[in-house]
Amino acid sequence: MAGGVVVNNGGGKDYPGKLTMFVLFACIVAATGGLIFGYDIGISGGVTSMNPFLMKFFPAVYRKEQEAEKNQSNQYCKFDSPLLTMFTSSLYLAALVASFFASTVTRVAGRKWSMFGGGVTFLVGAALNGAAKNVLMLIIGRVLLGIGVGFANQSVPLYLSEMAPARLRGMLNIGFQLMVTIGILCANLINYGTAKIKGGWGWRVSLALAAVPAAIVAVGALFLPDTPNSLIDRGHTDAAKRMLRRVRGTDNIEEEYSDLVVASEESKLMTHPWRNILQRRYRPQLTMAIAIPFFQQLTGINVIMFYAPVLFKTLGFADDASLMSAVITGLVNVFATFVSIFTVDRLGRRKLFLQGGIQMLACQIVVGSLIGAKFGFSGVADIPKAYAAFVVLFICAYVAGFAWSWGPLGWLVPSEIFPLEIRSAGQSITVSVNMLFTFIIAQAFLPMLCHFKFILFFFFGAWVVIMTLFVSFFLPETKNVPIEEMVLVWKSHWYWCRFFRNEDVHVGADVEMPAAAAANGSKVDPAKLAY
Ligand code: BGC
Repeated sequence: MAGGVVVNNGGGKDYPGKLTMFVLFACIVAATGGLIFGYDIGISGGVTSMNPFLMKFFPAVYRKEQEAEKNQSNQYCKFDSPLLTMFTSSLYLAALVASFFASTVTRVAGRKWSMFGGGVTFLVGAALNGAAKNVLMLIIGRVLLGIGVGFANQSVPLYLSEMAPARLRGMLNIGFQLMVTIGILCANLINYGTAKIKGGWGWRVSLALAAVPAAIVAVGALFLPDTPNSLIDRGHTDAAKRMLRRVRGTDNIEEEYSDLVVASEESKLMTHPWRNILQRRYRPQLTMAIAIPFFQQLTGINVIMFYAPVLFKTLGFADDASLMSAVITGLVNVFATFVSIFTVDRLGRRKLFLQGGIQMLACQIVVGSLIGAKFGFSGVADIPKAYAAFVVLFICAYVAGFAWSWGPLGWLVPSEIFPLEIRSAGQSITVSVNMLFTFIIAQAFLPMLCHFKFILFFFFGAWVVIMTLFVSFFLPETKNVPIEEMVLVWKSHWYWCRFFRNEDVHVGADVEMPAAAAANGSKVDPAKLAY
């Protein structure tokens, strides 16, 4: 059982160990799992704004677009086609379902095999899409891509959070989101290039190139070591010990090892993670597994990620300039992610969430007002270049706010809060809620833009207010807390503490508690926990 606790900033104990090259390399390879997700997010918006693609698969949308251009008709409604949005969003439904299957593979076979399966399925989907002759082939290809994303997003964040030393978990886990943003940017750049291909087959190149990140993920996964947590859980205790020594770069791993064993023993008692996750003592984690991805999508980020070229076209940019603007938002997204990489383990998760939320809200208000002032409700206007550039500027500031808050933290926080026995199931819930709302927003955005017009920006702004308040009251700080000790953080929280009985908490049991914390029934000094 665990020894004395060193309460370090965020609470919990600090295990000995350093960042080894081995762990750094494993985390970089694993994080590439984010590439396939990102590539996909970035590619669809650009492809669906390419005329040859629309003419071949969605001729009705193409005609409507041409008419709108000729007649200067309502700009808010020109791309409203359920079939076109089905193309974009079919992937997310597939990912939603796949993540439940991935949960079992991740738990029983280990995290790396889920990643491998994800990469291979994505590869097949990319080939089908690149060779598509009809809408059906396109949609089947996207379903396969979706299955790949479901598996990767289920396993990669867990892998990273388990491999990383607690002090650097935020930084290493955000490698996943960094790869997501790099995937999006590469896709935007590729679209920018392929849109210029004269023969009208540029979209095929865009879709087929998804095979590159897929191959990276599949091959990379083959070389990955298993996490010590997963090895213990699958009964390979000696291998787990060796791995823990290797990833922590020290022989002094007994304390951490025994916490992992305790976690695994508890996990063994639990034969039905899906039923058990509904127990009262998991209520805080379950709430976060649902609320965090739900809120992440309700920031409205994917309106920009999927539809930036369409949106910029709506603002009156030419085809080329629209794709270019998408490249600019893509660049901002990548660079701003570094801000969270370097601050998340020092400032903590909550500060980033709160700052990012306020920044996004301010930008949404400005963008909504600027678009409303020009287009009004009629949707007919000629926007001067400088004015449109101003809108793009605030969209970039909004993207930056997201990129150092809800973007990375939307994956980091859920992956670090579940106890081992429900970790895999919990992560599946996070992935599916994320995918469900990505799907709903992808499907609903164009009709919503058509009906709500510029008010849509205020709609998402209102959600940002709600989620920022939610974080400030209900999300405890999790920085620096060892993953198998996380339960102590919930137990010391002003609201969530009511869901725990003393006998539910088996880590850090021989910890000496400060009087105030002990009186509170807590093993971590609550004074040191920043809420
Ligand atoms: C979200 C995606 C989003 C991306 C943007 C991810 O964290 O899950 O929905 O498109 O960030 O960078």
